[in-house]
Amino acid sequence: MYVCICRAITDNQIREEVRQGASTLREVGQRLGVASQCGKCGKHARSVIREAISNRPMQDPLIWNPTV
Ligand code: FES
Repeated sequence: MYVCICRAITDNQIREEVRQGASTLREVGQRLGVASQCGKCGKHARSVIREAISNRPMQDPLIWNPTV
């Protein structure tokens, strides 16, 4: 489904950017251009980002533990 009409960006494209590591509207906007024209899609794009983050698989804690 289209989230950003101005830039023709879909929810699946946003989810893919979150899978690739983006976690904020600013980061997704820099990568895709979402919310960079009229800005009306920002609220919906944020909700897609939040939902995609909550569904992101947990990272291996050993990779992120600086004491290991
Ligand atoms: S709908 Fe996304 S910038 Fe206009």
